[in-house]
Amino acid sequence: MTEKDFILLPYPNTLEEGSVTWESPSNIALVKYWGKKKGQIPENPSISFTLSNCKTITTLSFSKKENTTKFEFDVYLDGEKKDAFKPKIQTFFKRIELYLPFLRDYHFVIETSNTFPHSSGIASSASGMSALALCLMEIEKENIMRSFNLQEIEDLDKNYFKQKASFLARLGSGSACRSIEGDLIVWGKHKEIKGSSDLFGIKYPYQVHDNFKNYQDTILLVDKGEKQVSSTIGHDLMHNHPFADKRFMQAHDNISKLIAIFKSGDLIEFIKTVESEALTLHAMMMTSMPYFVLMKPNTLEIINKIWQFRQNTGLHICFTLDAGANVHVLYPESESGKIFEFIKNELVAYCENGHYICDRIGFGANQLTMNN
Ligand code: PMV
Repeated sequence: MTEKDFILLPYPNTLEEGSVTWESPSNIALVKYWGKKKGQIPENPSISFTLSNCKTITTLSFSKKENTTKFEFDVYLDGEKKDAFKPKIQTFFKRIELYLPFLRDYHFVIETSNTFPHSSGIASSASGMSALALCLMEIEKENIMRSFNLQEIEDLDKNYFKQKASFLARLGSGSACRSIEGDLIVWGKHKEIKGSSDLFGIKYPYQVHDNFKNYQDTILLVDKGEKQVSSTIGHDLMHNHPFADKRFMQAHDNISKLIAIFKSGDLIEFIKTVESEALTLHAMMMTSMPYFVLMKPNTLEIINKIWQFRQNTGLHICFTLDAGANVHVLYPESESGKIFEFIKNELVAYCENGHYICDRIGFGANQLTMNN
């Protein structure tokens, strides 16, 4: 697939108005995407677990307008107008206009809410942009069906629909392209993963050992504030970064390692790869110019406690990090009883106001309604 494959013929018969609702999950990368080329093309492939509970629910209402010179939309978060979100959506619309020619024809109202607290330090861009991309794809699908009267298009297009939704979501926020489906998603070309692409995420196509089914993720909210460094700035800092080339190669190698790990179910190797990836992401930030430390003292306390507990018990608990201070604690379902007790008794004390979120690997986005 190339970018051109996502440009369709103009459709003459389009909806007048309507609304559509999709919910879409967040995801947590095991091998991290950090660094991009022009056009939201990742410098290296990444792989993530799709989450079950951390989701964005977006209703997109649309009505035809007279003046088609500019984009017109209003955005609401939890019922409150959020003009602060507009520039990001404006940029998103500009980037995807070529692929969705109806964007200037409608006035849109975007009503969104998250199942996780907005000020939790959890990035909502992956779930938010993927939910919006899915709503827009639904409008495209309806417009195509009306224009060409192809009832079969629904079946024909299941794959195309998801692929294009992921392609569009990528243009809103890179990691959002990994939030369309569950439960293990690869984005970025990797020589050992058939069908992998820089343009959209795909379901991991090979064997996954039962050890990874229903893998648990308890998110410890160490710092609920706004991100200190936006990911746009972070990605930019990988240009001319002294360790960039080696880092990008390492991500390829780590995905190769994970292919073997997913097959064998080797949790010890899984832990090594995942923790090393998290620390490398932060090492990249610490060694960029300007440099940043996004971990907080409590992040390190938690990491040390996890290591101690793992050594004492032999249980397969590990951590990963996003571009922030919060800690994702990962562990197999079969060990969740003892590990969750440990988290509650020993780790929650390091969270801001004792807040944490229980999540696990999930299955992806769902359409909730379509009215027109
Ligand atoms: O999707 P962005 O541009 O916000 O970048 C996200 C980058 C990380 O979350 C730090 C890593 C990843 O692969 O999700």
